[in-house]
Amino acid sequence: MEIPTPSTIGLPIGLLAELTHRCPLACPYCSNPVALEGRNTELSTEGWKRVFSEAAKLGILQVHLSGGEPAARRDIVELVQHCASVGLYTNLITSGIGVTEKLISELAEAGLDHIQLSIQDSDAESADKIAGYKGAFAKKKIVAGWIKAAEFPLTVNAVMHRANIARSAAMVELAIELGASRVEIAHTQYYGWALPNRAALMPSRTETETAVAEIDALRKRHHGEIVIDLVIPDYHATYPKACMGGWAKQFINVTPSGKVIPCHASETIPGLEFWNVTEHTLSDIWYSSPAFNAYRGIAWMPEPCRSCDRREIDFGGCRCQAFAILGDANATDPACHRSPHHALMTDIAEVDSNGAIGDYLYRKFPANVA
Ligand code: SF4
Ligand code: FES
Repeated sequence: MEIPTPSTIGLPIGLLAELTHRCPLACPYCSNPVALEGRNTELSTEGWKRVFSEAAKLGILQVHLSGGEPAARRDIVELVQHCASVGLYTNLITSGIGVTEKLISELAEAGLDHIQLSIQDSDAESADKIAGYKGAFAKKKIVAGWIKAAEFPLTVNAVMHRANIARSAAMVELAIELGASRVEIAHTQYYGWALPNRAALMPSRTETETAVAEIDALRKRHHGEIVIDLVIPDYHATYPKACMGGWAKQFINVTPSGKVIPCHASETIPGLEFWNVTEHTLSDIWYSSPAFNAYRGIAWMPEPCRSCDRREIDFGGCRCQAFAILGDANATDPACHRSPHHALMTDIAEVDSNGAIGDYLYRKFPANVA
């Protein structure tokens, strides 16, 4: 089995910058960690600029400016300007709340390339309930109009779960109405805040299969009009997803405080050593950080992955999910039907899909974190 070395490790293509964990919304499926990082730990403007300069030097092409709500950073325009000046393609991933028409035009001026706008449901009342924010849906529709007026390419992000899965097709129709060129229908991945909310979010197998079939039909109907991406619901799957395109293979995440992690949930795996941009260069971290090298390549794999013909297709699935379900990040992702523990995953899905709908633990900072 090949063990990756600096000469065999490829270049990352994208960097997800979690500029802040502050956010006006409280979505119960948020991928941020349950232990949110407070404002007083955030990197400074100069700190983020150095990260972006190092990213460009390392060969990264795309930066996703995310959070929390990235527009909660007062320096968002300056950061976009800096990314553009070092040649990075910039994508803003926003809830739209707190965004003004003036900010959209300043971002256009600064060189922002693309905007992804999250929408919680096609039904206003349900959308506001999921977001934990009254009036969010109406505001998002206005913001979508500003985004289109400024001639940004727009992607609508919709996370699907039991409260909105019956309206998967309506979400695609809404994205078309808003002028989006792409819509991402992402079935909830159970990490971060979604894990403790799993019983309130999990759809049934029948609901999931119906929604996936509807999206397939819409893809054909709207071919050439809108790109429809589907993130699969892996609790009901046969094979796992290639999480992050393979551990430390394509992407780098940077948390608000500058911790560099291979995926948004990797901090849940005990024993991993993460390095911080305040102490190491991004290049050092990519090639040498113990957390990045922990599950790189295929040498770490147990059976049945080790001798499986799909080991370089899905890379054994998701390490964080293996840990969340089995307490063992080295195991085959139980979403895979070849895992000896696959039945456990299907049993969890069955039980959780009968939980009380809408009984959410909303994402929020603890009272003692600013
Ligand atoms: Fe993927 Fe491992 Fe399952 Fe094979 S056994 S399909 S490599 S998760
Ligand atoms: Fe961490 Fe999948 S979320 S590897």
